[in-house]
Amino acid sequence: MWMSRAFLLASLFAVCFGNPHKCDEVRKVFHLRQIGPSQMLPLNPRPGSDLQVCRSKSQTCCTKKMEERYQVAARRDIENLLQTSSSSLKFLISRNLAAFQGTFEVLRRQAENHTNALLQESYGNMAAQAEGPVGELFTDISLFLLGSELNVEDFVQRFFDTLFPMVFNHFVNPGLGDLSAGYTECVRSSGRDVRPFGGTPALLADQIARSGVSGKLLVQALHLGIEVINTTDYLQLSRECRKALLKMHYCPHCQGLTQSKPCMGYCLNVMRGCLASMAEIDVHWREFVHSLEELSARMHGPQDLEQVLLGIHTLLHDAVGFARKNGARIAAQVHKLCGPPTRKPVQTVSIQHSSQESIHLKTPIKASDDSLAVRRREFLNSLRLYRTYYGGLADQLCVSELASDDGLSCWNGTDIVKSYTLRVVGNGIKAQAANPEVKVKGADSVIHQIIDKLKHINQLLQGKSIPKLGTLDQIETGSGDAEGRYSGDCDDEDGCDGSGGAETEKNIQRVSKLNPDVSSGHNHHHHPPIEDYKVKVRSGSIRMTGSIVAMTMPWLHLLLAP
Ligand SMILES: *[C@@H]1O[C@H](CO)[C@@H](O)[C@H](O)[C@H]1NC(C)=O
Ligand SMILES: *[C@@H]1O[C@H](CO)[C@@H](O)[C@H](O)[C@H]1NC(C)=O
Ligand SMILES: *[C@@H]1O[C@H](CO)[C@@H](O)[C@H](O)[C@H]1NC(C)=O
Repeated sequence: MWMSRAFLLASLFAVCFGNPHKCDEVRKVFHLRQIGPSQMLPLNPRPGSDLQVCRSKSQTCCTKKMEERYQVAARRDIENLLQTSSSSLKFLISRNLAAFQGTFEVLRRQAENHTNALLQESYGNMAAQAEGPVGELFTDISLFLLGSELNVEDFVQRFFDTLFPMVFNHFVNPGLGDLSAGYTECVRSSGRDVRPFGGTPALLADQIARSGVSGKLLVQALHLGIEVINTTDYLQLSRECRKALLKMHYCPHCQGLTQSKPCMGYCLNVMRGCLASMAEIDVHWREFVHSLEELSARMHGPQDLEQVLLGIHTLLHDAVGFARKNGARIAAQVHKLCGPPTRKPVQTVSIQHSSQESIHLKTPIKASDDSLAVRRREFLNSLRLYRTYYGGLADQLCVSELASDDGLSCWNGTDIVKSYTLRVVGNGIKAQAANPEVKVKGADSVIHQIIDKLKHINQLLQGKSIPKLGTLDQIETGSGDAEGRYSGDCDDEDGCDGSGGAETEKNIQRVSKLNPDVSSGHNHHHHPPIEDYKVKVRSGSIRMTGSIVAMTMPWLHLLLAP
């Protein structure tokens, strides 16, 4: 018995140091991993009573200076590991964010094109005049979608106000020559009383506001997703954690054990301790993924930006049709307000009354495969795989990177052993009270802040409160006083669940609720230009993210908890 023990110890020692009197191997690794200059190492093992963390009864290749270097290296290793492990998730979100913004812009152009084509085909002469206002309308829509705090109702109304004199001149009270400037202005300003386009302007404003708010919310949420990942990528590790990492990663080196890996249970204790704050994100991150799915599910019909944009030309057609049908009433009202039309001297232009239905109306525009809805679904399918990312991070790092494989002898913090014998704690802050390896004081304040932001956006995503547009920017910039501004906006039951009714009166009411709070004076928020990635985006970013997910997906859920 005694003999075999002595033999075991002797052979262990021989394995450890190779040549028991030299620190060559340790020096080599120290140099290769760029931990520090190799001159730092003693030539031969020495007593290590002055060491702070890597104390041992046997001789050591370490000095106090080296310990410091090792600690820096251990921290660097873990930071690199954290960034590597989150990179595919970060990439998934940022690619899709760019894709969504690019697709908005493509759709906006298509919609403008359709609208101009409709005007051209159905309303001949008026088309050229209307092109300017149509362009302005779509520019305003773009700005709104990109984050400017424009009042949707205002810019839609302005468009119809400008359109009215044109429609009046061509279809309601046609005559030779254009209306005089003064008369045009009078007709224009009579629009609000005469209501020549019926409920269409309010309906259009409502649809743009609702679908735009959903679209913008999606974009804001993805920005926040990236911010969360970025925050955890650069998390400050506590002193206790850094010491524990040093002990786990590099103390074996001091004893010549450059190949050893920590035992699984030991690794879990250290990593669950170090990442305890991050694990607190778990429940909110899961909810975030779920809430994005909820938002996406609501984004159909009048809440679907794509359908709304590609339906604008139809609404416009309806609006002009309404004016023509009510021509007699409108003419009478305008005459009452402005008198009989005064016109500019005649230019020899004949007035056509073309009214054929355009082919664009008969064949509804089909959303392509590349449509927002399809892209959203594919994105969410990929994102769902990362639901448990934060809850499983410590375990994942130990299983796939750090700890020794099952059954092999491993480092327990002081020795090479068959298995780790201490209790293994669970994930999260509370569980760390019993952690034998890392003392955890409490939640990290940076993590606490990011959790608050997640909670907030989850509320918005779930439609529990309708965002004022200004508050969305505050989520991102994190000026934490947003609380009072978004809560309690939702006093109208119908307006909160976001289901779409078509009654105009209700719509008008809702539109005004959705209007940005212009007086609040937030900075306009502009996203980076989208020109660059538009083309790239269309050529298979989804496929690419898909394969990256596949590569990094051995998403192991280790059930080693106590
Ligand atoms: C706009 O329509 C014209 C034809 O009417 C077409 O040539 C052009 O490519 C379209 N542009 C976009 C961006 O769809
Ligand atoms: C991520 O964090 C780093 C460091 O804190 C910062 O420099 C960078 O701008 C951040 N990136 C994003 C996308 O938030
Ligand atoms: C590591 O193993 C040694 C030798 O078996 C033992 O004395 C020590 O208590 C163990 N440490 C831990 C933290 O399990």
